Amino acid sequence: MSEPESALSGASVVAWLRQVSPYFQRHRGQTFVVYFGGEAVAASGFTDLIRDLLLLAAVGVRLVVVFGARPQIERRLAARGIAPRVVGDLRVSDAETMAEVREVVGAMRLEIEAAFSFGSRGGPLTGAGCRIASGNFVLARPAGIIEGVDLMFTGLVRSVDARAIAARLEAGDIVLLAPLGYSPTGELFNLKAKDLAATVAAEIGASKLVMLTERDGIAAEQGGIARQLTLREARALRDTTRARPHDDFEALDTGIAACEGGVERVHIVSRLVDGALLRELFTRDGIGTLLSGAPFDELREARVDDVGGILQLVQPLEARGLLVKRSREKLETEIDHFVVMVRENTVVACGALYPYPEQRTAEIACIAVHPDYRGDQFGDLLLDALERRARGQGLDSVFVLTTQATQWFNERGFAAGALDALPVAKRELYNYQRNSAVLRKALA
Ligand SMILES: CC(C)(COP(=O)(O)OP(=O)(O)OC[C@H]1O[C@@H](n2cnc3c(N)ncnc32)[C@H](O)[C@@H]1OP(=O)(O)O)[C@@H](O)C(=O)NCCC(=O)NCCS
Repeated sequence: MSEPESALSGASVVAWLRQVSPYFQRHRGQTFVVYFGGEAVAASGFTDLIRDLLLLAAVGVRLVVVFGARPQIERRLAARGIAPRVVGDLRVSDAETMAEVREVVGAMRLEIEAAFSFGSRGGPLTGAGCRIASGNFVLARPAGIIEGVDLMFTGLVRSVDARAIAARLEAGDIVLLAPLGYSPTGELFNLKAKDLAATVAAEIGASKLVMLTERDGIAAEQGGIARQLTLREARALRDTTRARPHDDFEALDTGIAACEGGVERVHIVSRLVDGALLRELFTRDGIGTLLSGAPFDELREARVDDVGGILQLVQPLEARGLLVKRSREKLETEIDHFVVMVRENTVVACGALYPYPEQRTAEIACIAVHPDYRGDQFGDLLLDALERRARGQGLDSVFVLTTQATQWFNERGFAAGALDALPVAKRELYNYQRNSAVLRKALA
């Protein structure tokens, strides 16, 4: 018996396959850009990361891999006695520095290519002949003079040969990009790998940019990790993150740039977690921060002038018995309990939180997503916002009464709860005819 078979029983293999197979379908044929820094390349788990990338390729993901080389370059410069010069967050790359960068990055590229060859032995791509394509896909221009200092061979991306990359991906290759770009006059420029990853993801129309970073995700304002962020929330957070760990600021900034360029989702995940990439992409909750790039979505507290929009959204669902009926007057008085997702001035989703502070719990109610926008994780975003709100109010749990979305809530950590465990005020209003399921979730 081979190793994986002995580690998992037959039943758990079946359960596991059933759980992950929808993701195979979802990811197949999609283009992902994966970024990791030089820290990941130097780490002992690097071959495992390469195996995970090969597995993604085997599932049919079209992969572009962008690597950074900051620690390796810094080590080399220190060894050569070259003092690093930095302006803002860009390194000054003079000719002497650039000669070292060229050597270090060139060697790393070969090392990564070798790791891919090694990783494909005994791995999911054994015999599949997966090739790595790297080349002059990126044109660069000088970053120029900043704060009076000429950054010399430090560059910015000028253009990306998206067609050539697409052709390589079409042929089944994994495209590997070093943090270097070429000028039309044949010079080589040192690029910031995260910027390169964001630009490439936008230019080739990738559906995801996954950034493997040194931290667990983006720190939320109220502590812990922000699990999901809309573009608007990410921008607001970036403005408060300047004083926070520089890594968070950089990762957010890169993610925002990618989303602004049209990338639908950016995942910011710790590279230090074994299998981080797979955990993020093949589990519902993921492990890091998901930045959702839909540019017109705004998730915010509801206002009285949203009442009309909320009614339009929920009335058809009330008519079908999916939601409890609420009059316009009731909605107006309870509007402070609501959050809404707005796209181009239309309420496309809503949800409400009714706290019972004495029992340290709250009811989540009236979660609804317009049928045209289902399956885009708006439900997840709303639920996350309401749970955050409950946590912010110091509550320990949330509960929901639902007739037809039990499974949906179960998949999001809710479990069957007892009717008599509900706050008395709620229990007294329980409608036995509706016979809703009572579900509860403890807030971590
Ligand atoms: C339940 C609801 C809010 C989910 O919204 P959404 O934005 O589509 O949710 P997400 O994109 O986050 O999740 C979509 C996933 O949930 C599944 N799903 C949607 N409704 C479901 C339901 N009632 N039961 C079980 N699963 C459901 C979808 O099939 C999809 O699964 P997949 O990811 O495996 O393809 C939405 O379907 C809705 O408005 N339903 C009617 C109102 C309702 O019942 N509200 C709950 C009462 S409080």
